[in-house]
Amino acid sequence: MKGISILGSTGSIGRQTLDVVRKNPEQFRVVGLAAGSNWEMLLAQIREFSPAVVSLRDEDAALRLHRALVGSRTEVVSGSDGACAVATLPECSRVVAAMVGISGLPAVLAAIEAGKTIALANKETLVAAGELVMGALRGDKSRLVPVDSEHSAIFQCLLTGRKASAVILTASGGPFLGMTHEELEKVTPAQALAHPTWSMGAKVSIDSATLMNKGLEVIEAHHLFGFDENHIRVVIHPQSIVHSMVEMTDGSLIAQMGPADMRLAIQFALSYPEEACGYKARLDLFSTDLRFLSPDVRNFPCLDLAYQALAAGGTMPAVLNAANEIAVEMFLGGTIRFTEIPRVVRESMERHATEQVQSLEQILQIDMITRERARRIAQGLRRGQP
Ligand SMILES: NC(=O)c1ccc[n+]([C@@H]2O[C@H](COP(=O)([O-])OP(=O)(O)OC[C@H]3O[C@@H](n4cnc5c(N)ncnc54)[C@H](OP(=O)(O)O)[C@@H]3O)[C@@H](O)[C@H]2O)c1
Repeated sequence: MKGISILGSTGSIGRQTLDVVRKNPEQFRVVGLAAGSNWEMLLAQIREFSPAVVSLRDEDAALRLHRALVGSRTEVVSGSDGACAVATLPECSRVVAAMVGISGLPAVLAAIEAGKTIALANKETLVAAGELVMGALRGDKSRLVPVDSEHSAIFQCLLTGRKASAVILTASGGPFLGMTHEELEKVTPAQALAHPTWSMGAKVSIDSATLMNKGLEVIEAHHLFGFDENHIRVVIHPQSIVHSMVEMTDGSLIAQMGPADMRLAIQFALSYPEEACGYKARLDLFSTDLRFLSPDVRNFPCLDLAYQALAAGGTMPAVLNAANEIAVEMFLGGTIRFTEIPRVVRESMERHATEQVQSLEQILQIDMITRERARRIAQGLRRGQP
């Protein structure tokens, strides 16, 4: 029985992880949960799974949860250190990192330090601090298994042991596949949130619509599998059935396929190297239609910006990530247009002189400076300034 802590338990990946736990009661036991402010949902999760410790980022929400839990054995912690406490519980062997954005980074590093295996969904941690995270993993105490369906697919393809020369990430293309720049200028947050094949949280849904999600995944793939930007390719595959592919040295491909259902990748990451199979979802091959297209990098420039950040290396991916988090927030809040997201990111990158990655404090400092800068750039765009 593996003890599981879930960081981001009230979100899309967190809730699907709990579903996988429900389907595998003999294999997994929830020992810790962490969320931001949604104390009501966390309360329901505590009542069902009885974890030892839970955390909320928001202190007021934690107080309300504490009051509602009178007589319960579950301990409530809060604030920015709360998620680290949940990630390092002695009874936890596997941590599902499913917080959104860079907010999950300190807890992921703390979990690695404590020797936990990480089931990583929170791709922004690898984008912003890939060198730090992979460097911390270098001992043999802890391990990282990807949850992102593309990286889970590549991980599984590489288990064949054959020598790979490149990886090919598939992308659905998002809700605006095929749209012109003029059409993209008018899209609303509600339209951008309506993903055609995956049901996800708000930030990753917008990232999917801009193709930044695929860009972040290119950087994630670089850190996980060691390929440089010239050996990580992206193809649009609107059906989201081939989750990604690996190219062999002879040019042939190994692909991993399945329905668009994150619970399969989550279950794999929770159980690897064993195989839990309490949750099943089969592909109907007779109604499967596979198409592959080139990405439209002119109308969706975020993908190219991510390749540029990876090529620049050092702290540039952290800048890409921070500027994108702010641009997405400001698009969702109605401050900027959809087509202005890449402008905010590009200008933030242009104003940053790349440094070598040295420490968590340096990354968090650059993240904070970039956020302020990106906000000013976005506000400038609204006032019609260059
Ligand atoms: N959803 C998918 O299908 C999918 C697929 C692949 C990868 N991913 C990646 O997985 C991560 C999570 O995505 P998601 O779609 O599950 O996001 P989501 O639905 O927005 O959920 C985010 C979770 O993180 C919590 N949270 C946010 N800020 C926090 C903070 N400062 N401290 C503690 N908890 C905090 C939220 O708590 P509250 O509910 O209290 O706000 C919520 O539980 C992202 O990095 C995303 O790119 C997602």
